[in-house]
Amino acid sequence: MTSTPPLVRSFGYVGFETAKLPAWVEFAPKVIGAMIGETLPGGGLALRLDDWSYRLALVPGPAERLAFIGWEVSDAAALTALEDRLVAAGMPLTRGSDEEVRSRRVQGLAWCLDPSGIRTEFFFGAERASVEFAAGRPLSGFVTGDLGLGHLVLQPSDPDATLQFYRDALAFRLTDRLHAHLYFLGCNQRHHSVGVANIGGPARVLHLMLEVGDIDDVGRALDLCIDGGIRASMLGLHSNDRMTSIYITTPSGWEIEYGWQGMLVDSGSWVTETIDRPSVWGHRQLDVDHPPAPRRFQQVIQ
Ligand SMILES: [Fe+2]
Repeated sequence: MTSTPPLVRSFGYVGFETAKLPAWVEFAPKVIGAMIGETLPGGGLALRLDDWSYRLALVPGPAERLAFIGWEVSDAAALTALEDRLVAAGMPLTRGSDEEVRSRRVQGLAWCLDPSGIRTEFFFGAERASVEFAAGRPLSGFVTGDLGLGHLVLQPSDPDATLQFYRDALAFRLTDRLHAHLYFLGCNQRHHSVGVANIGGPARVLHLMLEVGDIDDVGRALDLCIDGGIRASMLGLHSNDRMTSIYITTPSGWEIEYGWQGMLVDSGSWVTETIDRPSVWGHRQLDVDHPPAPRRFQQVIQ
């Protein structure tokens, strides 16, 4: 636990490069219930989860990879304070160009490459959309607001340095750890907004968590994956943030954790914990070649 306030308020937006934009345009509204937003400068596509103009950006390109992370600060003064803190940590920020500010739909931003080379942006003044949010399929809605858009779990090329970046330079709370394999860090009441994995293999994004307002939303997503032949896990309950969730493989190959009722924590009194397993139950992989069938009773009455 740190006594320094984090300055970052929430996980605001995230961008992914993809060569599979048409598949995403089909997948995002129909399976996860996102709303297709505006086309961004350079041909990227905004996806909406709430009243913000965009929360996810899909940027056309040859790779399936994380392109940038956007962390929200409260205002211009907070961004300046954060710049001072990162200069002191030896990681000076670069102010975003006018085009970058317009593209991200914010009032101001600055960015750096994190120790693993991931473009990491800090911004204030997210634009609210002029068109009301309408989910892409029946859905109670996404849990965002002050908690941010969800959480992101990364396997960086340098996990130790990335952990230091978030915990020491940015003053995120180390909420808990799964031995030395996975570190969960938070900047607000959400149990964690970023996870740093140390499990080896190439640097990659492991998953993006989106929280929905009702367990029915998760159940419907699982049905849609089974019916559509989309790789997913069965339901499970996480041991640390008590999230009931499934994991859905996106068209890009990385996963979306789609969850309900994650734990909120009080930063002031929280003590870092160590957990010994990720799930209390479940999160078994669904075999898409042999999907579960409706029970005989359900077949009879249909
Ligand atoms: Fe997660």
